[in-house]
Amino acid sequence: MKLTHDIIEQKTGLLALLVVLVVSVGGLVEIVPLYFQRSTTEPVSGLKPYNALRLAGRDIYIREGCYNCHSQMIRPFRAEVERYGHYSVAGEFVYDHPFQWGSKRTGPDLARVGGRYSDEWHRTHLRNPRDVVPESNMPNYPWLSKTAVDGESLPAKMRALRTVGVPYTDVEIASSTKDVAGKTEEDALIAYLQELGTVIKSRR
Ligand code: HEC
Repeated sequence: MKLTHDIIEQKTGLLALLVVLVVSVGGLVEIVPLYFQRSTTEPVSGLKPYNALRLAGRDIYIREGCYNCHSQMIRPFRAEVERYGHYSVAGEFVYDHPFQWGSKRTGPDLARVGGRYSDEWHRTHLRNPRDVVPESNMPNYPWLSKTAVDGESLPAKMRALRTVGVPYTDVEIASSTKDVAGKTEEDALIAYLQELGTVIKSRR
């Protein structure tokens, strides 16, 4: 039996199968090379894994759901680059598991917020955003300054990250609990925010 157009159109199962085959070729051609391209798999120069305090801060960022209102990905459009700084590149995120790109921007993108404000500004802002930005609708996070960072779980987290390719050393892992001793969750979150995106310098 010859596989003519007529037969394919009559047999919907066969049609569906062939459609899937054709579409997946398109998908594979687009996706597979990304796993092997240096620009998407290699860290940008100067990128370091999060230190213990920043890693703890990042987990607080995720726990508190900051990503529900903030993206961390600057698209390569003029309006975005003028507002936020150099557009994001894949190599900035190779140590992020999971990445925080997001798509919701109730608040501004935070990909390059590092260094834009002082620590004091962040403290005031996290406790009550309206003290620094009167029209803000961001919630208050007053408990962060009263809660100590959970340092006990850090070595296990860092070991887990190492299995997926983040180059933590044994020394960094061993000292992580001690490194965050006496710090509050607010300290950790601010440490995380203060370095966001700073590996690429060309900001406005
Ligand atoms: C309900 C939405 C919402 C949530 C949730 C939220 N934010 Fe915001 N955020 C905003 C809005 C709106 C602004 C802009 C006004 C302002 O600066 O307060 C903002 C501003 C900011 C800024 C200043 C950015 C800049 O470039 O000026 C930072 C930093 C920030 N948020 C961090 C956080 C962190 C950290 C969390 C989680 C603990 C968080 N936000 C949760 C809405 C939100």
